Amino acid sequence: MENTKDNKKITDKIIAIKQKLGNQLVILTHHYQRKEIIDLGDHKGDSFGLSQRAAQDKHARYIVFCGVHFMAESAAILAKNFQTVQIPDMNAGCWMADMADSFLVEKAWNDVTAIVGENRVTPLVYMNSDAFIKAHCGRNNGAVCTSSNTSKAFEWAFKQREKIFFFPDEHLGRNTGNNLKIPAQEMIVWDPEKPLGGNSESDIKRATVFLWKGHCLVHTRFTTNDMTAMREKFPDAKIIVHPECTQEVVKASDAVGSTSFIVKYVDQTSKGSVVIIGTEINLIKRLAMDYPDKKIIPLKESLCPNMYKINLKNLLACLENIGKTNIVTVDKTIKKDAFIALENMLSL
Ligand code: 13P
Ligand code: SF4
Repeated sequence: MENTKDNKKITDKIIAIKQKLGNQLVILTHHYQRKEIIDLGDHKGDSFGLSQRAAQDKHARYIVFCGVHFMAESAAILAKNFQTVQIPDMNAGCWMADMADSFLVEKAWNDVTAIVGENRVTPLVYMNSDAFIKAHCGRNNGAVCTSSNTSKAFEWAFKQREKIFFFPDEHLGRNTGNNLKIPAQEMIVWDPEKPLGGNSESDIKRATVFLWKGHCLVHTRFTTNDMTAMREKFPDAKIIVHPECTQEVVKASDAVGSTSFIVKYVDQTSKGSVVIIGTEINLIKRLAMDYPDKKIIPLKESLCPNMYKINLKNLLACLENIGKTNIVTVDKTIKKDAFIALENMLSL
């Protein structure tokens, strides 16, 4: 009870600050945020949609990003000089992004180009990465992509050069390769802890796709056993999953797609349908509330603790210190190179 009263007080203060700042402030919220945060945002979306929003905004001096750090950082790269980007909790990181260390990425890139030659590989980096990796891609004529445009990005990359180095999600890369009918033996995993990523020189020469060994702990928790159990319980249900899941889970699903695909799927499915979803739990809970005429069930409860770090208290603190604290900044040269990679994605 106390908690609800406190939340109401905080929410009222946030609304008052929003009213005072008007169009000088824009609050962006990722679909995985808690409902009370989504309700206070100006735009909700997936990482691609929100990066487009950030790039398009011409008025807001202050962009407050309720999501994880790499998303706010991407907004800061796309922001204009008069804009500041803040995140309510600087420690809201992403495990997957942390799996690609810039030093090791640079080393892997040098190892591969030393074997296959210069200008034979296009680097593609998932949005879930830090600015250094995006800058590396920009410097080497590559692009950023998100789960909503990875296939397009692969097709674009193959038009530039014959091989792709995909960072840092092994599963998204493999699922995209499968979708484009790239033979499994041509996609090799690059384990940064092993010499030559754990591959032989001939494997590297033969490969068309290098998959950095990284993954999302939230999405790799789903298994085909979970799916079998749910299909037994709900025989008429459709199972849809995010492409960060393993290829076994993706192959056993009825549909696979990005966060925005999942949202659209639920919206367009007919009344009374049963949809089982394999993605972050806060999004699924919200969809279940928004569509009471459909049965929306999680494949399994899997919460992203990084996204969950953003709450009403730290959002209020951020707004009370607008333009002053928790500002996400990016070094000038890194920003310039990372901007190229992000622009390549936005013009795909
Ligand atoms: P989207 O690109 O679909 O927003 O997903 C981001 C993410 O972190 C998924 O785990
Ligand atoms: Fe990162 Fe996974 Fe959380 Fe997405 S769900 S932000 S990939 S840890």
